Amino acid sequence: MIIKPVIKNNICIRVHPIGCRENVSRQIEYVKEAGTFKGPEKALIIGGSSGYGLASRIALAFGCGTRTVNVSFEVPAKGSSKTGTAGWWNNIFFQQYAQEAGLDFKDFVGDAFSFEMKEHVLDYIRKEYGKIDLLVYSLASNRRTDPRNGVTYNSVLKSIGQEVRGYSIDINNITIKEEVMEVATEEEIASTIKVMGGEDWQMWVDMLKEADLLAEGFKTVAYTYLGSPATYPIYKDGTIGQAKKHLEQTAAILNKEIKEELGGEALISSSKAIVTKASIYIPIFPVYGAILYKVMKEKKTHETEVEQKYRFFRDMLYGNKRIVDADGRLRPDNLEMEADVQVQVEKLLKEVNQENVREITDIKGFIVDFLKINGFEFENVDYDADVDMAELAEMELK
Ligand code: NAI
Repeated sequence: MIIKPVIKNNICIRVHPIGCRENVSRQIEYVKEAGTFKGPEKALIIGGSSGYGLASRIALAFGCGTRTVNVSFEVPAKGSSKTGTAGWWNNIFFQQYAQEAGLDFKDFVGDAFSFEMKEHVLDYIRKEYGKIDLLVYSLASNRRTDPRNGVTYNSVLKSIGQEVRGYSIDINNITIKEEVMEVATEEEIASTIKVMGGEDWQMWVDMLKEADLLAEGFKTVAYTYLGSPATYPIYKDGTIGQAKKHLEQTAAILNKEIKEELGGEALISSSKAIVTKASIYIPIFPVYGAILYKVMKEKKTHETEVEQKYRFFRDMLYGNKRIVDADGRLRPDNLEMEADVQVQVEKLLKEVNQENVREITDIKGFIVDFLKINGFEFENVDYDADVDMAELAEMELK
């Protein structure tokens, strides 16, 4: 099968498995070159198949030799035309490289929100690990069924109070078009908190704790995005921001318990804006991202997801160079938040229009990154070559 990118409504409906392998391999090479550091022995990652979760897994496994269990929601290839999700191939090739490196790993594919999945994972940890040292919560989803009552909630990416106007990126045409972020109802805000707030994170920690599967000094971290005044209306002050506020309240509760009972900690870490399967959906955010890429690349402070997570684990979570804000959050997004970066980004956000978008933003770099997370645009992958999907489909996850 010859696989070319097919993009509809900014969703890449085909992925290239060999390109996904390249994406994983490059992240691993970065970590190997950056060197080892002391970290956790055993970690559970929720949402470790793509974006920041995958980068976390790679930084830990290849940076510290951490044994990793990953829970993600991904789909394998099916029949002659469905190529599966990028996260599926990322898991497959992470395992292949980890095996070659003599690392220990396990993947669970399914709904992390369910009790059933939690019980499977707990069983595995009980039998194979005894206890875990770290739980990374990096899940991004638009839907969650609460396992206690079976009710399904949908998260929405909307504003609160008044609509927000801006531009969105049209990936196929490398251009921008006007976009309006609609105002959320109270019900939509509450639903978004149910999906992307801290309830599920807390359930994982509570169930692991009750089962006595948390080691002394156990740490857990969940990821947030804080942004700057330029993004407040679409993120921090919008529905997703309300959910992240709940995540932070959850961190405070968990931190107190874990500190008292295990001498460990529960933390929130605010990450830099990058292109992921999840972030591309946030209205107006990609244009901010394309401008941010331009400004940070010019300043030579731009970081990829693995660069960010490697620095986070080595210097902050397990290091002595923590950057902590007044509310106790870890801030590896410090380079994005530098005052001169934000002044320049805000200026360009006011100036950007359809005519100048290719000059004053890094829209091309942003789109290339989007294609890369789907396995395209790697110069050393032959996209005219036939991909033997039947052979690849035989690769199974452990
Ligand atoms: P992503 O879309 O690349 O990854 C999401 C992960 O969640 C995938 O592994 C997916 O399989 C998993 N997942 C989704 N639903 C699931 C389910 N029901 N059961 C099991 N796994 C499920 O997203 P990204 O962007 O890496 O987001 C991860 C975290 O990082 C989120 O909390 C996000 O808010 C945060 N973050 C992202 C930033 C960005 O610019 N992308 C910036 C700052 C924070």
